[in-house]
Amino acid sequence: MTNSKEIDKILKKALELVVPSDEEKEKAKKAEMELRKRLDEVFNQGLKQKYNLEYKFLGSYARDTWLKNNLEIDVFLLFPEEVDMDELEKVAIEIGKAVVDEYELRYAAHPYVHGKVLDVEVDVVPCYRLKSLEKIKSAVDRTPFHHEWLKDRIRGKENEVRLLKQFLKAGNLYGAEYKVRGFSGYLCELLIVFYGSFYELIRNATKWSRKTVIDVLKGEIKKGRQFFVVDPVDAKRNVAANLSLDNLARFVERCRNFIERPSIEFFVEPKVVLPDDRAIISEIESRNTALCVVEFEKPKIVEDNLYPQLERACNKIEEFLKRQNFMPLKSDYYAGKRCYLIVECQVKELARIDKRIGPPFEEENHVKTFLEKNRDYKPFIEDGRYCVYVKRKYWRVEDAIVDYISKNWKGMGKNVGVTISKGFRLHVGRDVLNEELKAKLVEFLALRC
Ligand code: UTP
Ligand code: MN
Ligand code: MN
Ligand code: MN
Repeated sequence: MTNSKEIDKILKKALELVVPSDEEKEKAKKAEMELRKRLDEVFNQGLKQKYNLEYKFLGSYARDTWLKNNLEIDVFLLFPEEVDMDELEKVAIEIGKAVVDEYELRYAAHPYVHGKVLDVEVDVVPCYRLKSLEKIKSAVDRTPFHHEWLKDRIRGKENEVRLLKQFLKAGNLYGAEYKVRGFSGYLCELLIVFYGSFYELIRNATKWSRKTVIDVLKGEIKKGRQFFVVDPVDAKRNVAANLSLDNLARFVERCRNFIERPSIEFFVEPKVVLPDDRAIISEIESRNTALCVVEFEKPKIVEDNLYPQLERACNKIEEFLKRQNFMPLKSDYYAGKRCYLIVECQVKELARIDKRIGPPFEEENHVKTFLEKNRDYKPFIEDGRYCVYVKRKYWRVEDAIVDYISKNWKGMGKNVGVTISKGFRLHVGRDVLNEELKAKLVEFLALRC
């Protein structure tokens, strides 16, 4: 059997995993009808006239590109441009609360309401109704334009989008939120429009680079400064802006693997069996690195705000340890019930003395100040420059981290910095292991399982 016949067979099988059942589609339709009824009722209580409001079903439900067992209806409330933003938010939340069960507030460009209607997940999102995107007020205002652009172009290709979403989901690459930094639903649909099918996309993506630019509107592919998918409704906007370089690389790798050894497994979320604690501990001890974890309380802020701060804090610590010659291998972070910054260094302990490089001998005044300082050791000349040994304040990586955090918490992200300044625990070596961190640690240590 040729490779492409084999792929056809697998994609047919994968369709069963991604296309919603008739039963699920019917459940969705009923919820949609009920939601329309509830919205009409609320609108008819005078809101519609007062604000010249309308609602529209947008997103993957409206285009029939939602993934089996992942139904969520996105309904947008479109306000005229004259309504100011505070009022838009207030009214939208009121409407949202009135039409869904079990509401909760979520935060994107504006706060919006998430809830359920007849047991189906619903997002009620406010935006402005604009004539053109020149006067755009927030990112969600593009959504009605996205829908208009896509709705006819995606027709007949809905299941291709679903295959792509599941292929990404199984590789933990689906979602543009900071926690994932992968592909948004809209990006998936644009890529299917551009390439025509899941298979054509996967085949061509094996050749993508970090400089690939895909212009969906012009139907062109070219080289630019960074990976860029031009939004057909707003040429300045990169639809792939939230896709990280590493996740782009992981996607390309996944496409190559699929083409080479096609299998249904690419559409199944992997069940990872973690090594047992003894194996993890024995690895930590035998590699003899300085594995350190800073643990602290999780700030009560939304994920898209928390993750960039954790990343910043992590980078700060890693850069510091690098400057101090602890030779970090890498660093990462995790947020579960608590927050964790992880860093692994090649050096556990430094010499008690450090070497400071001073001025070249020609700079008479600088040399003078350098020599006037009270020193434990005698300055010496090397390659035409003054040098001196100094006693270190700390030599163990743990002490370095504690000292750094106590002095530099302000640079570690607003909320993360404040939380960490109130207290943290530092774990080293085998003591870093804890139930909620285990899976992350196994990944961090690059263990095979
Ligand atoms: P969704 O996240 O619901 O995506 O946002 P989707 O395309 O429907 O895909 P799935 O199937 O649910 O995963 C719906 C639309 O709302 C806008 C985007 O334009 C998106 O197309 N949106 C959503 C934002 O602009 N910002 C957000 O934070 C969320
Ligand atoms: Mn959606
Ligand atoms: Mn969603
Ligand atoms: Mn949504």
